[in-house]
Amino acid sequence: MNTIDRIDSRTTHDADEDIRNRDIKIYVNGEIVPRDEAKVSVYDSGFMLGDGMWEGMRLYKGKWAFFDEHMDRFFDSCKAVSLDVGTDRAGILDALTRTAEANGMTDDVHCRLMLTRGVKARPFQHPRLSRSGPTLVIIMEHSKPVDSLQGKGIRLATVAQVRGLPMSQDAKYNSHSKLNCVIAALQAEQAGADEALMLDPHGFVNTTNACNFFIVRRGAVWTSTGDYCMNGVTRAKVIEVCRDNGIPVLEKNFSLYEAYGADEAFLTGTFGAQTPVASIDGKPIGDGTRPVMARIRQLYKELVERNVSDQSHD
Ligand SMILES: Cc1ncc(COP(=O)(O)O)c(C=O)c1O
Repeated sequence: MNTIDRIDSRTTHDADEDIRNRDIKIYVNGEIVPRDEAKVSVYDSGFMLGDGMWEGMRLYKGKWAFFDEHMDRFFDSCKAVSLDVGTDRAGILDALTRTAEANGMTDDVHCRLMLTRGVKARPFQHPRLSRSGPTLVIIMEHSKPVDSLQGKGIRLATVAQVRGLPMSQDAKYNSHSKLNCVIAALQAEQAGADEALMLDPHGFVNTTNACNFFIVRRGAVWTSTGDYCMNGVTRAKVIEVCRDNGIPVLEKNFSLYEAYGADEAFLTGTFGAQTPVASIDGKPIGDGTRPVMARIRQLYKELVERNVSDQSHD
């Protein structure tokens, strides 16, 4: 048993247990099959090398929130690594719609859309060995983030693993291989924390292993410059709602000094929207009240509602 198992462990992806997820149907290359029958080859490029891209999305009222933004990132990532999606965004939407319908899902759903370079002819690295077309898998689960996280918050530990430079593995790739982030999560766990706060190669505070990171100081919202971190859709939307509603927001370099002394800190991601940070390296953040994050959370919720209702009228 490791440190975190002994204490009250939590992550930003904690969801209420939903027994319906035991019987979900999963999309695998055009087929929609029961969860236990959903399989990919051991020769698959995703399994062998982490050679693939994915998107996490949320379904609200039968519509995918910020679908266009997710598809922009997905298609850009695939193009950048010469991964032929084999369809256009209408084809992806059709696969998502079929999977949601097969599962009778319309709300409080999280989806992981995954595309790999497909089955390899031989068990080696070169992409030319992936000859039979991509593998597309869609997992949709009934998923509501646990309410208790909004009160308790996430405990972060700063870790030794840093974000990479874009010329090694650009952090903007939502790639199947997340080993950099997984190592960071392990280091945080060993430090007795829930998740990892990662620095950039210059020592500035950057992001966490699975979410983007924001602080609030004297009423202003700060986040990293956007270099070295995932170009999170939720991050962009938080910046947008701040700008549209007169909340000062800065994308800038800052250090742990400013993070420890913040009035509030929170994480962003499609799964949990905005999740408060309780502490960093054992230091409590602020006095536990989070008025700015609460306002942003409400504004973000309203933006999601407008986005899905606009799609209903398309
Ligand atoms: C490392 C990392 N940071 C941040 C995010 C959040 O991105 P988004 O807001 O688009 O869900 C993700 C999600 O995939 C991620 O993997």
